[in-house]
Amino acid sequence: MSEPVQTPQTFTPRIFSGIQPSGGLTLGNYLGALKRFVEKQDEGIETIYCLVDMHAITVWQDPEKLRQQTREGAAAFIAAGIDPARSILFNQSQVTAHAELGWIFNCVARMGWMSRMTQFKDKAGKNSENVSLGLFAYPALMAADILAYKATHVPVGEDQKQHLELTRDIAIKFNNDYKVNFFPVTEPVIEGAATRVMSLRDGSKKMSKSDPSDQSRINLTDDADAISAKIRKAKTDPEPLPETLDGLKDRPEARNLVNIYAALSGQSAESVVAEFAGAQFGTFKPRLAELAVAKLSPITTEMNRLMRDPAEIDRILGRGAEQAEAIARPILNDVYDIVGMIRSRQV
Ligand code: TYM
Repeated sequence: MSEPVQTPQTFTPRIFSGIQPSGGLTLGNYLGALKRFVEKQDEGIETIYCLVDMHAITVWQDPEKLRQQTREGAAAFIAAGIDPARSILFNQSQVTAHAELGWIFNCVARMGWMSRMTQFKDKAGKNSENVSLGLFAYPALMAADILAYKATHVPVGEDQKQHLELTRDIAIKFNNDYKVNFFPVTEPVIEGAATRVMSLRDGSKKMSKSDPSDQSRINLTDDADAISAKIRKAKTDPEPLPETLDGLKDRPEARNLVNIYAALSGQSAESVVAEFAGAQFGTFKPRLAELAVAKLSPITTEMNRLMRDPAEIDRILGRGAEQAEAIARPILNDVYDIVGMIRSRQV
């Protein structure tokens, strides 16, 4: 291609999403992301899923643990229902198009846009002089992950909304600057009963793999006893469950447990409240624990089985990377052309 693409394009639906292998996955990752990745795959849309190891190293990662967590993440995807024959599953660093497009987007994104990213401000805290440059540039690499495949839809939890708005801004600015209609303006897909699962110890904080308290989260590696104990000890209030969702307005911990129940059982939060109206937490928590164990234990068991053969996981990631590369490389070649880079190397 020598002339930039001028004609309007329509973009075929394609889903991309990623998870950082920066720690074990939590119930938040499962309900907000993984479970929905499987639903999208099963709807028959083209799906590309990635363990974003290059994002993970924006904060320090022990190399051996990073390798282990990347394999464990892949095992979690497969155990949760991602089928490598129907979805592309790989780790980011094996497809260099991400880093290459990430650089180009570093030159499209503006310092002001990046400085407004709340996740950067939260992670950097008072330490912003001392965090990596990669942590600041993180959302531009995320835009590259998505747009290297011209992905049209990105299923994520609520906390990624701002990053996806930035991805849209980058796509629009690139298209405008180069007078092309090359990148789609990607739609975030934030849906379901648990787009923001909260900590079991504090209803104002997101459930997170980096929370210092293990009691705050359910890990996908927790066994049945650990899951039950954490739900039994989850912070609540002394009131029974109300008749309608309105009654949970100022009760974030209670609302969180209802949302978790709803997402695990595939119901709406309204119908969970209707079912348990007037029940005390002494009744509700054991039912939630039973449901969580029934849904999560098979995944944990399958993850453990898959982890016994790390070479097979590596083979799956390698095959996925080859398929991902086959989509991203021609797109990246067009990008180089549009930007004005000479590509004359003989291979
Ligand atoms: P990460 O690794 O923090 O989380 C992975 C996915 O899990 C969702 N999630 C939650 N959903 C509900 N409740 C929670 N408590 C919760 N915690 C996490 C996240 O919203 C996310 O969907 N920047 C991304 C990774 C990324 C990415 C991408 C995502 C890199 N490139 C391209 C989509 C597309 C992140 O840190 O997710």
